[in-house]
Amino acid sequence: MKGLILSGGHGTRLRPITHTSAKQLVPVANKPILFYGIEALRDAGIFDIGIIVGDTKEEIKKACGDGSRWEVKLTYIEQLKPLGLAHAVLTAQNFLQDSDFIMYLGDNVIKGGVKDFVEEFKHQKPTAQILLVKVPNPEQFGVAELSQQKVIRLVEKPKQPKSDLALVGVYLFNSAIFKAAKSIDYSQRGELEITDALQWLIDHGFDVRSHIIKGWWKDTGKLEDMLEANRMMCDELETKILGVVDEKSKIEFKVVIEKGAEIKNSIIRGPSIIGAHTKIIDSYVGPFTAISENCEIQGSEIEHSIVLEGSRISQIRNRISDSLIGKNVEIIGNERRIKNHQFMVGDSSRIELI
Ligand code: DAU
Repeated sequence: MKGLILSGGHGTRLRPITHTSAKQLVPVANKPILFYGIEALRDAGIFDIGIIVGDTKEEIKKACGDGSRWEVKLTYIEQLKPLGLAHAVLTAQNFLQDSDFIMYLGDNVIKGGVKDFVEEFKHQKPTAQILLVKVPNPEQFGVAELSQQKVIRLVEKPKQPKSDLALVGVYLFNSAIFKAAKSIDYSQRGELEITDALQWLIDHGFDVRSHIIKGWWKDTGKLEDMLEANRMMCDELETKILGVVDEKSKIEFKVVIEKGAEIKNSIIRGPSIIGAHTKIIDSYVGPFTAISENCEIQGSEIEHSIVLEGSRISQIRNRISDSLIGKNVEIIGNERRIKNHQFMVGDSSRIELI
């Protein structure tokens, strides 16, 4: 079985963070979201993986390389325009040939991986297998309608959803999907939808199975989803202190401090992670916070946030929370007290609170 990870498309919903960079590379718990997908496939025994790339291909290639770090083989497949998930499947036909495959959306994180679903597919050999999850906001997803546990209809982002069962971004297919993807038309939003290709399979009598998952899953398209994924993945961390912590500092609960990091006169309350060569000085880093490498937090308090590499936060007297701060950002404060700050700050910005 082969793997196909979709990492093309635009990251408009996370602007300004992903205006210039791939949304699949934004880290949760200091690891790019895309890496969780590669690891999930590897752990399911899938080593031959194609990655669909678009405008951000160079950045993605640079981050993932040839896959040897995970002991998998990565093949990059260029999709010239993000014309839909079924279009991506057709773009990858040369790579996939007539192999069964798992398609994994590169901005999805699924706790516990995909091993069980892959095993089930190998065992039962349906034409396609989809994963469904109950969500409070089905109108934002592909939605499945079931009758006696069989999928009878799939609709992409319906205004009036017939159920609360959303399609998770993990699909298993045999090569019949190519015929389906070639037989459908572009949707109103101008995409070849995988939901329509699946519906074509159902309408033509193919065996499309579904599996309702109980575990945690997230499509990290928006800030709050990204923070939730970060919370989930920080919670999985085990304490590991490789950096230097001075005797005036306190490390509480599950905290990872990477190599070369320095913690001086500060409190780090886990679950949280401090990246390599980051300095935390006279500060408080609260739960569910991931500070990437080469950052500096000085005289400030931050919790439930993600800070990307090379950023500096200094003398922000009131707590920063629920924030996503881009790369190489500077946020510099003074002594005046303002109650709370919430930021979504793009790469290379500078904010001065005066
Ligand atoms: O996350 C689950 C949802 O994913 C499903 O419930 C929907 O049925 C499915 O259509 C999809 O919806 P999204 O609107 O969230 O898909 P998005 O455009 O965010 O694309 C998902 C991933 O696939 C993302 O990593 C970008 C990549 N992509 C997307 C398109 C449209 C490509 O590589 N090529 C494309 O043409």
